[in-house]
This record gives sequence, C-alpha cells and structure tokens, in this order.
Amino acid sequence: MAEYVKLIYDGKTYELPLVTGSAGEKAIDITKLRQTTGLITLDPGFANTGSCSSAITFMDGEKGILRYRGIPVEQLAEHSTFRETTFLLINGKLPNREELDTASERLNQTSLVHEDMHIVFQNFPRNSHPMGILSSMVTALRSFYPELPVVQEEINITVMRLLSKLRTMAALSYRISVGHNIVYPRHDLSYCANFLNMMFNSPVKPYHIDLDIVKALNIFWILHADHEQNCSTSAVRVVGSGRVNLYAAVSAGIAALWGPLHGGANQAVIEMLSGIKESGKSLSQIVEKAKDRNDPYRLMGFGHRVYKTYDPRAKIMKKTCDKILGKLKISDPLLDLAKKLEEVALKDDYFIENNLYANIDFYSGIILRAIGIPTNMFPVMFAIGRLPGWIAQWKESMDDPAWRLSRPRQIYTGPVEARYIPIDER
Ligand code: CMC
Repeated sequence: MAEYVKLIYDGKTYELPLVTGSAGEKAIDITKLRQTTGLITLDPGFANTGSCSSAITFMDGEKGILRYRGIPVEQLAEHSTFRETTFLLINGKLPNREELDTASERLNQTSLVHEDMHIVFQNFPRNSHPMGILSSMVTALRSFYPELPVVQEEINITVMRLLSKLRTMAALSYRISVGHNIVYPRHDLSYCANFLNMMFNSPVKPYHIDLDIVKALNIFWILHADHEQNCSTSAVRVVGSGRVNLYAAVSAGIAALWGPLHGGANQAVIEMLSGIKESGKSLSQIVEKAKDRNDPYRLMGFGHRVYKTYDPRAKIMKKTCDKILGKLKISDPLLDLAKKLEEVALKDDYFIENNLYANIDFYSGIILRAIGIPTNMFPVMFAIGRLPGWIAQWKESMDDPAWRLSRPRQIYTGPVEARYIPIDER
C-alpha cells in the first residue's frame, strides 16, 4: 500500500508520497511539491536531499556499512582486484573469466596516450598541481579522440579509454614533473603493476614489482571506487545532466575532488601531521585548536558527512598500512603520530559528541608514502580510484528515464527591485 507524508500548509493538507529503498531507507518524494503547493525546500549542503535513486552503492552511515552492488567492501578488498571491482560497479555484476579477460585486453589496447598530448603535458609549469593538469587533460581527450557516430560504441570506447588512460596520464604527469623519461604502459602487466612500473621504472634502476605493494594498491583503489552521491560524483552527475561528453563530466569530477574537504584530504592529512611534528605542540593542544570554533583549523582525515561511526574503509586502510609498512620494514614517524592523534581525539568529548571518527584519508597517505607516491599526487591516486564510480553513476543517470537537467532553485535574499543609477550619479 502506498504510504504518504502529510504536509499542512496555508489551511490545506497535501499528501507527499513516501519512497522506500531496497534496504528500507525512506524518502519524501517532493517532485510535485512546487507545482502543487508553490513551495520549494531549502537544504544547504544537500545533507537531507536525495538527488537520485541508484542501484550502485549502499552506505549506512550509522552502522558503518559500505557495499558495491550489494557486496561488502571488506569482501572486495580481501578477494577482488581493482579491475574486477571496476567491472562490477560499471556493469552491475562480477565478470566471468572471459569477460574479465576481454576487459583487460581492451584496457591494454586503449592504454597509450596520443603522442601530441605529451607536448601539452610538457608545457605545464613544472610545479603545477597534478590535479589541475589531470582535470585539464581529461577534457582535452575529447579533442584528441573525437566523438564516434554510433552512441553505444562511443560510450564503450570512451569508458575504456578513460579507465586506461587516466592511469597512464597520471604517471605521465608525474614523470614530466620530475624531468624523467616517459615509461609506456606494458601489455604483460596487470592494471596496478602497470601503473607502478610507469611511475617508478628507471633506465638506471629497473623497478621491481612487489606483489604485496600491488595488493595494497588494489585495496587502496577498491576502497575509493565509489561512495554514492559524494561531492565529486554529484559534480559528474550535475555536469553530465547538461548532456556533455563523458570526458568533460569526469573532468568536473576531478576538479571537485581536488578540495581538501574531499579528495584533497589525504594530502592535507600528511601536511597536517608534518606540521604537528614540526610545531612541537602537544597532541592535546592540537585537538583543542581543532575544537575551537573561532579557528578554521580542523583535524584533517576526521569526520564525514554520512558516517557517524568509524568509516569502514578507514579500518581496512589502517590494517593495510600496518601490513605494508611491516613488510617494507619502514618505520614512518607520521604513522606513529597519526595513531597517537587518533587515540587522543577519540577520547575527547567534542569528537565523541559530534561523532567524529577517522575517515579513509587518515591512513591512506601513509600507505601512499610507503609506496613512494609524492604527496601532491595523493588526490590523483584518489581520482584514479573513484573513476569507476563516476562512470557507473554517469551511465546510470543517462539510462534513467527520470533524469532531468540538474537545476536547483534558491531563496532569493537580495533587493527586490532596484533602480539603475547612471555612473556619474553614484
Ligand atoms: N575537525 C574538527 N571539527 C570538525 C571536523 C574536523 N575534522 N569535522 C567536523 N567538525 C565539526 C564541525 O565544524 C561541526 O561543528 P559545529 O556544529 O560547531 O559547526 C561538527 O563537527 C559536526 O560536523 P558535521 O556536520 O558532521 O560536518 P560536515 O558534514 O559539514 O562536514 C567534513 C564533513 C568531511 C567536510 C568534515 O568532517 C571535515 O571538514 N573533515 C576534515 C576533512 C576531511 O577529512 N575530509 C575527507 C572526508 S572522507 C573522503 C571523502 O569521502 O571525500
């Protein structure tokens, strides 16, 4: 039986339908609200707004649950690879062996970046942030790979190109930024191993591929692969709703991810930890500073819009961190500092009352440092990981008959009507 919520306004009663998701969460359907009542809703930051229905990722922020297509992220991190998880997110099911082999072959075929693009990469100023370069170059892909006339073929090839080339382009921008030779992708290497080789192989010291590092990178990217309607994914959907090409929509996602409150937080955590170490301040002083409402300082890598308990990804990240540092016999003082800081924060009333726990970014940077990734590349690593999610969400939106141009409204608070004053009378 259909359920409704009653809204009483201006002496009239309106019935707004209730929508129930497959895991039981409920929403008020307000699609006819303005048409029937003249009202709109106001929800800064969209904390109470469902922007779409989606069958891709399920999150329960109170219980700390994250599932891709119904499969718990813990199981995927343990048993799957990033390539397989990518297939799952985009196609809605785990691939069989043949499907996975075909997808790998297509990724290999599309892994090279047009040679003329190398010239563009070379001409960015040396100290440009790699996220800015990546976002620009992803849009530029449209110029180098023009649209195909058959829609389905165009979508399939664009998806493969993005998945394969983003990884090549990330490594390319790093090599150029440090003035090293370009390492091309190799046909015989897996997705993650190929990336590591493109980043670190050198004519004077061949890169040794360590399977434990490959596994850690797979876990890192699996944990980042989707997170329902977060800031960058919403950017991809909003920009995509104008029916731009997928390159442009993904480029918008990269730009949105760059910020320190979102994908830039992994870089910000390492900078914060280094700053604490250098400052000589005690951890309780740092926590006090983060709590001060008159001080913009926050504990980076803490808190989340949806998780009001421990971020399930952070648990896996912390475990992987200990494992990889142990295996590589690295003792990172920032890891010890991070653990101590977490301990102090988790005992603090402010953090307890506001449900502020460590999120995925708190430990992820330590793993990336151990692998040898430079700090300003951390958000790029997040972007490669989030790409399958962006693509899956974009595809879902394009296939959704209810999908419309994203165009929120507002409550206007400026002057109702003002007179134009000629410049000499002002
Ligand atoms: N340090 C200190 N205070 C905090 C923090 C923090 N990290 N996070 C939230 N608060 C405060 C916040 O100011 C608010 O206080 P008040 O009520 O006085 O205004 C209170 O805690 C409740 O915050 P909230 O409503 O839960 O926060 P939000 O949903 O608006 O913001 C957030 C979520 C992630 C932007 C925020 O927690 C933050 O800035 N964290 C640090 C940046 C970070 O780690 N970002 C990565 C998020 S995970 C990766 C991703 O998915 O993008």
